[in-house]
Amino acid sequence: MKIVITGICGFVGSELALQLRRRFSDTEIAGIDNFSRPGSETARPRLRTAGVAVKHGDIRCRSDVDALGAADWVIDAAANPSVLAGIDGRTSSRQAVEHNLAGTLNVLEFCKAHNAGLVLLSTSRVYSVKALNALPLVVRGEAFGPDPSGAWPPGASPAGVTEDFSTAPPVSLYGATKRASEIMAIEYGDTFDLPVVINRCGVLAGAGQFGTAEQGIFSYWVRAWASGHRLTYLGFDGSGHQVRDALHAEDLADLVERQMRAGRDAAGVWNAGGGAANAMSLAQLSGWCAERFGPRAVGVDRDRRKWDVPWVVMDATRASDRFRWTPAVSLASILDEIAEHHRRHPDWLALTEPL
Ligand SMILES: NC(=O)c1ccc[n+]([C@@H]2O[C@H](COP(=O)([O-])OP(=O)(O)OC[C@H]3O[C@@H](n4cnc5c(N)ncnc54)[C@H](O)[C@@H]3O)[C@@H](O)[C@H]2O)c1
Repeated sequence: MKIVITGICGFVGSELALQLRRRFSDTEIAGIDNFSRPGSETARPRLRTAGVAVKHGDIRCRSDVDALGAADWVIDAAANPSVLAGIDGRTSSRQAVEHNLAGTLNVLEFCKAHNAGLVLLSTSRVYSVKALNALPLVVRGEAFGPDPSGAWPPGASPAGVTEDFSTAPPVSLYGATKRASEIMAIEYGDTFDLPVVINRCGVLAGAGQFGTAEQGIFSYWVRAWASGHRLTYLGFDGSGHQVRDALHAEDLADLVERQMRAGRDAAGVWNAGGGAANAMSLAQLSGWCAERFGPRAVGVDRDRRKWDVPWVVMDATRASDRFRWTPAVSLASILDEIAEHHRRHPDWLALTEPL
């Protein structure tokens, strides 16, 4: 078997490559990356040592994708993955759409040409901002939490948001490129009879993540706290009550392995998140950091941004039931791992800071 991974030097791409290398011993793993993410070049030696072939390549360029050669599976992990992609002044909206959507089309054509299965890494950001902001929540301690007596809309419950939750726009440019990629991938799968697996990931986390405030918040906050970077609670009255769940990259690899072993039967849209047990607010994360590294002041910016959402917990019951998959890495272990990685690489934030 051959698996190719786009964005193979990114946090998720490299973690999946290394994990799947161990999990499928007789499988060739190769990939491309355009190294647009600062820090991504640090993955290259680790991948080479593990016997994973890495080439420079950009999914926006058809010939770069074609150069990957035939494959049985493609994992599409190349993207500009920030909710602020295309509007933060670092990249244009056109670039965000070209990386995140036009690139997907080249990958789909590749899958069609080689009759390859696709694992598309989508995001919780496909879920409707308006609908998420209308969830019945109460403040419990230092976090938003579900109001069990509230009226929960279809696809959501105190256990989280399921695959049936509204994807009505607006969802951010980033979310829209991912949702559009999902739709195109499903159509290619149906039209050309390809197994298309769409994993809607919540916050993924782990040691070597290139975290920013917009993406990889657990990794960013722990490192920023430890290294004295400025920290700010944005929106929600500056309370830091907003909640996210975290899934360790190893647990995602476990899910992808099970999906690949299931083959065509794995086709579908699946939530992949750590769930309520692995959820925490920013204020609670600050509490964890204060205990670990000592107290710090956190600034406050009460201005609400367009895509702020108070509570995103992924209900991954469907994937758990279908693939007999249960995330094994607790949030406490994830935070410990990030802190330990920071101890060994105190310069990581500077190394991986977006230009
Ligand atoms: N990390 C998360 O919390 C999270 C959550 C949900 C979904 N995802 C999805 O998972 C995927 C991987 O995210 P990540 O966290 O590893 O991000 P990342 O930024 O660490 O990795 C993305 C990699 O893709 C590369 N890349 C970007 N544009 C490219 C292009 N046009 N051609 C080739 N390579 C390109 C970058 O250089 C980088 O190495 C993305 O599709 C993202 O949307 C991530």
